[in-house]
Amino acid sequence: MEQTAFDVRYGEYRAAVEDYLQGLFTDKPHWADLYDAMRYSLLSGGKRIRPVLTLEFARLAGLDWHAALPVACALELVHTYSLIHDDLPCMDDDDLRRGKPTNHKVYGETLAVLAGDALQPEAFRLILTAPELPADRRAACALILAEAAGADGMVAGQVIDTLHAPQSEAALQEVHRLKTGAMIAGACKLGAAAAGGCGALLAAAEQYGYQLGMAFQIRDDMLDVIGNAAEFGKPIGSDREEEKVTFVDLLGLEACGRRVLECTEDAKAAVAAYDASGFLRALADTLAERNK
Ligand code: IPE
Ligand code: IPE
Ligand code: MG
Ligand code: MG
Ligand code: MG
Repeated sequence: MEQTAFDVRYGEYRAAVEDYLQGLFTDKPHWADLYDAMRYSLLSGGKRIRPVLTLEFARLAGLDWHAALPVACALELVHTYSLIHDDLPCMDDDDLRRGKPTNHKVYGETLAVLAGDALQPEAFRLILTAPELPADRRAACALILAEAAGADGMVAGQVIDTLHAPQSEAALQEVHRLKTGAMIAGACKLGAAAAGGCGALLAAAEQYGYQLGMAFQIRDDMLDVIGNAAEFGKPIGSDREEEKVTFVDLLGLEACGRRVLECTEDAKAAVAAYDASGFLRALADTLAERNK
């Protein structure tokens, strides 16, 4: 896919996601400080990769992708909660996220925890009230999100990452699969499920998502070493400071770069039969070279 066509489509998805998220939590109850904390992180300029994946898979599965916006944004709410909590002093203890002070630095730890808490059920509310999706597809999407984010998904990865000090390549691979792969694969599957997509497409979405997630997290760990904080929007050296062993420690930067490319090729191969426009393959290539 040509770069301009890719940029246009990504931009269109992203603008729709921003627009949808802008409309959330705008009321002013007397607990609006909670809404403010939620909106602070929700609207702070994430790349929106996960909702973009949901919308593209919905489109590929034959749906008018606009109908999948509540589902795509629901996953972004859960992703945002995971970042707010990931940055807390009891987790990675980071001060910078998306180029801005982290949620707890602005609102304090109590409200940061509660903003993250609130984003989770609100995500399921969005799915379960998605106006243009039939009840069976809403239920299928809710289950996919619960599995991606839950005790055998992202949170399991966070537990191993922060508390079990994984050291081996196999252990790190499991962490990446759980903490990052599960949510990216979930995003892909959500799009297919919102469209009532068939088994083969769901399986391809899952495989693409896991390989992309693996490449994404290895690249993230590389950028934690060689990145530029102003561009990356996060502190450099956070993993080292937390004494985390990463793929960079085990393989070195060069081999990490090769591993990112291998996973990217595996991701692209998984969707070759469906990705007629080449958008998913272009996205994978773009992420393999990302600096933010
Ligand atoms: C950050 O994800 C968490 C990781 C899995 C490394 P992103 O890099 O997608 O974060 P945003 O949403 O663009 O800020
Ligand atoms: C976190 O991984 C992935 C999540 C589930 C939030 P990292 O801790 O490496 O993510 P960053 O570097 O803080 O974005
Ligand atoms: Mg972390
Ligand atoms: Mg972190
Ligand atoms: Mg990181």
